Amino acid sequence: MLTRGNCIVGQSGGPTVAINASLSGVLQGILESENYNSVYGMVNGIEGLLQGKYLNLSETFTTQESLDTLSITPSMFLGSCRFKLPHYEVAPEVYEILFKFFTTHNITTVFYIGGNDSMDTVVKLSSYAKLKNFPIRIVGIPKTIDNDLPMTDHTPGFGSAAKFVATTMLEIAHDTYIYNIPSVTIIEIMGRNAGWLTASAALARTTYSCAPDLIYLPEAAFSLEQFVEDIKRVQKERKNIIVAVSEGIKDAEGNYISATGTSVDAFGHKQLCGAGKTLENYLKDQLGCKVRSVELNVTQRCAAHVASKTDIDESVLIGKAAVQAAIDGLTASMMCYNRISDAPYQVEIVPHAIEDIANKERIIPRSWINEAGNDVTEDMLTYLRPLIEGETLVGYKNGLPIYCDITHLHNKHFFEHLEEN
Ligand code: F6P
Repeated sequence: MLTRGNCIVGQSGGPTVAINASLSGVLQGILESENYNSVYGMVNGIEGLLQGKYLNLSETFTTQESLDTLSITPSMFLGSCRFKLPHYEVAPEVYEILFKFFTTHNITTVFYIGGNDSMDTVVKLSSYAKLKNFPIRIVGIPKTIDNDLPMTDHTPGFGSAAKFVATTMLEIAHDTYIYNIPSVTIIEIMGRNAGWLTASAALARTTYSCAPDLIYLPEAAFSLEQFVEDIKRVQKERKNIIVAVSEGIKDAEGNYISATGTSVDAFGHKQLCGAGKTLENYLKDQLGCKVRSVELNVTQRCAAHVASKTDIDESVLIGKAAVQAAIDGLTASMMCYNRISDAPYQVEIVPHAIEDIANKERIIPRSWINEAGNDVTEDMLTYLRPLIEGETLVGYKNGLPIYCDITHLHNKHFFEHLEEN
């Protein structure tokens, strides 16, 4: 059992609607367990901590009301980074700075909420602690709209993004079907090399709308010629066609169809965007009918007004479970969802060794995509359906949702005292 040291929590990678719910879960778990004196928050993840940027969260969130508001606030209260920790043999000074901070602040546990790249930080901190025999626990908590972390049934944040995508798809269908002229509307959806979020567009289908008519995912090789043929075939049945397309679709040689630039992040990922626009321009030439593309872009990962209650509730629980696991002695691990049943939907939260997770991508099994590579199967829908269930209660003031104040992230004077030191 741990006895009343302190702990620190960080958030890292791309945002989601549920990552603050996991932070709230960690804070609630700490309050309930009474095993830590104070909980600190890294500002801008491990990169910010290296610059000495942190907050005392025990002083910030003192009431259940403030923790509940945190749970429904989109994106990251603590800010983020896309920072790859160098290997300790290459840059030992980086680890000396971090572990000196942990010692001086009596940190006995580090919680790090992030995706597969951020779990690289969990691996490296855990390995260094083991090497130096440093008494600290390092526990990862998953998040990503991409849903591409291995060993977990799904990731916190995915269900809410999926609910936004499916809802928006249905609303776009209402917008599209009003005109009695042929049209093609292409919706570009995030997810990098994994098509889970694009696949969730299929949840939008109702008795009166079959949008999306076609779905293209990174897991199935994309051909422009086949795409035009698919559109022409559907056009024989319907005037208005709606297509869901992943930002990361690739041709048979693995080249991205999107208009990617040359800029890459610290983990070597290209910024993907423009697949929809590329297909729009191509189709306009081929078909000569009205063609429009819509890039959902960042809206799909911060639309807290349409969050999935299942996702938010589970995200709080996985944060709490991480605290309990750390108290029980867990380290070098990430908390995972294990699905017990689809109907009734039931999951349990279990830890898994971090080496099997960090820097790895879980893509859609080919058997959950139809043979033609332009739709998903019923197995996929069975998997997705429970994840978007339920609605959260967002409070409103002056017509706007009430979220947590994030002044500390954009006020350049907030951490001025650090620059003076
Ligand atoms: O990793 C999550 C994600 O939202 C991806 O779906 C997307 O490709 C990427 O982040 C975009 O990252 P950034 O906001 O850093 O450009």
